[in-house]
Amino acid sequence: MAKIAVLGSGTGSNFQALMKEFGDEIVLVISDQPGAGILEKAKAFGIPTAVEEGGVDLSLRILNRLGGIDLICLAGFMRLVKDPLLSAFPNRILNIHPSLLPMYPGRAAWEQALADKVEVTGCTVHYVDAGIDTGEVILQEKVVILIDDTAETLHARIQIAEHRTYPEAVRLALKKMSGGA
Ligand code: GAR
Repeated sequence: MAKIAVLGSGTGSNFQALMKEFGDEIVLVISDQPGAGILEKAKAFGIPTAVEEGGVDLSLRILNRLGGIDLICLAGFMRLVKDPLLSAFPNRILNIHPSLLPMYPGRAAWEQALADKVEVTGCTVHYVDAGIDTGEVILQEKVVILIDDTAETLHARIQIAEHRTYPEAVRLALKKMSGGA
């Protein structure tokens, strides 16, 4: 069975969605925010947690905590993953992003989509590389933008899509890692 670490900075709703499918595999949650909801949720599940706040050596400090981990899932982790962590986990770090990449990388992607007056946005799960929200796409799901959408209502609907898409993408990545298609 694969061992998965989840990294997040926020409320942890994607972590919760992953727990429903991979409750036995998720063995560690790390946050850069000591007060993040994801830490409370992890504790409620009895999963070990760690806090590593920012700094130039953040990726090294995180790497030092990942002994025995096979796959890293970024779930609302608002820091760039850099070397040596990146090279230690080639094609082993996934990220969920609230847009149809390559559209709207970076922060508050749903606000960028609203401001742009596009009709459709969505979410993307992709492998993490050295860029900002670049890297090979694993799965995407579209979300139609409604005429009366606010930033909050749109993000809420994108999150519903995220909670479906992320577990499915993790399943695909694990299958690939174990030599499947
Ligand atoms: C999610 O919508 C995720 O897509 C976004 O942060 C939110 C975290 O929510 N991530 C990014 O914007 C990364 N660029 P959660 O803490 O409830 O899972």
